[in-house]
Amino acid sequence: MPFSWKYSPIPGSERNWSCEGDLRRTGASSAGFPLMTNRRSNPGTAQILEGYRQYVVPSYARFPVAFVRGKGSYVWDVEDRRYLDFCCGIAVNALGHASPIIAQALEEAAGRLIHCSNLYYHPMGAALAETLVRWIGAGKVFFSNSGAEANECLFKLARRFGEARGAFEILTAQGSFHGRTLAAMAATGQDKVRRGFGPPIPGFRYVPFLDLAETERAVGPATAAILVEPIQGEGGVRAATRSYLQGLREICDRHGLLLFFDEVQTGAFRSGRFLAFQRLMEGCEKDEDGFLPDGIAMAKGLAGGFPIGATWIRDPYADLLGPGSHASTFGGSPLACAVACAVLHHLEKEALGRQIREKGERLSLELQAAASPDRGWIESISGVGGLLGIHVRRDARAIAHALLARGLLVAPAGERVVRLLPPLNVSSEEISEAIAILRAANEMEATP
Ligand SMILES: Cc1ncc(COP(=O)(O)O)c(C=O)c1O
Repeated sequence: MPFSWKYSPIPGSERNWSCEGDLRRTGASSAGFPLMTNRRSNPGTAQILEGYRQYVVPSYARFPVAFVRGKGSYVWDVEDRRYLDFCCGIAVNALGHASPIIAQALEEAAGRLIHCSNLYYHPMGAALAETLVRWIGAGKVFFSNSGAEANECLFKLARRFGEARGAFEILTAQGSFHGRTLAAMAATGQDKVRRGFGPPIPGFRYVPFLDLAETERAVGPATAAILVEPIQGEGGVRAATRSYLQGLREICDRHGLLLFFDEVQTGAFRSGRFLAFQRLMEGCEKDEDGFLPDGIAMAKGLAGGFPIGATWIRDPYADLLGPGSHASTFGGSPLACAVACAVLHHLEKEALGRQIREKGERLSLELQAAASPDRGWIESISGVGGLLGIHVRRDARAIAHALLARGLLVAPAGERVVRLLPPLNVSSEEISEAIAILRAANEMEATP
């Protein structure tokens, strides 16, 4: 039987769904929870998984669960089971699910102007770029649709910058992750990501993360730029230090290179500050305001789930990408820019950066207290704000499966780290709920 893209209405009901299952469990009122699976006519998990098996390219290692709706920090699967979402689309759903801020911005923008070509101008593009420049520093922004594309803009910038002296190479860090396009994959300092895809795009070399001496030794006549994540996300939630970032700036200044940060995962207030490098530079009187890289890639949380990528380029390098040098059909559409503006201004207005910083600190401390050298799988905690890594003694994916069964979504990062990426507007009660689930799962695993 062919799949329907719509869920069928329950006969006799105005709604496509009802939510009694949830209401019984949570004791919540029906307001704001209008949906539930209509199992009589809608496909169940097994059918959906089978649909993917037959028709979708199997390039993802997916967990066996199919989601149909969300509200705030929770999502519900097709069988109407509720999950606390500390994966958030891997750092995308900054305002959780079904945010009225996003829904309203989408509706208003879609009713006004969804798309117009980059042959023309529109006010939302100017407004979003102005916001980003104000929050980062003097420069300009190129808009795209994803993290890999935001990095691609940096790669092209480095080549333009180095062209006159024949420099094109970018040094990146071992353990880094920069995306899955051919160039972003070549930039990624992990063999497993690149394996099996033939000769890599030339011009990327990997140096040990956090090692300034090795990085400077690797600089050669062909080097044009250095690119790092201020906190490696996919690489296991490993944070740079202030002195490392400062040291990179000095190396770049000494050798005439551009310094780039990939803030695709760490940006949009996930660290507690708009960008993680701003957080890492805190407390450094001289440099906190003055320290800037030359380019920054952003995406993921910028529009809270609506696709967008943005590359900030410091003055005067932004003008290296003149007319005809770079483009993206959908990049910086009125719709994407309107949603990003709404999300970012809400995050700022509600001080959600400060809030996630405090909540993340509590989460980190309480989990740290649950870590024991000889019991359970929790070994240690790393990261800040809404980007925390639980370093585990077992297989991270198996632990993510066990937590899924307990109603908590997390994102593995490699074989030994489980990431916690709550929405930035997560409540204190939801943080407590996550701690309780994690502690209980850790205790269960601890008993022989
Ligand atoms: C640091 C970093 N850079 C780039 C990317 C790629 O982003 P996208 O999947 O949107 O292309 C990711 C995705 O996880 C990331 O974490």
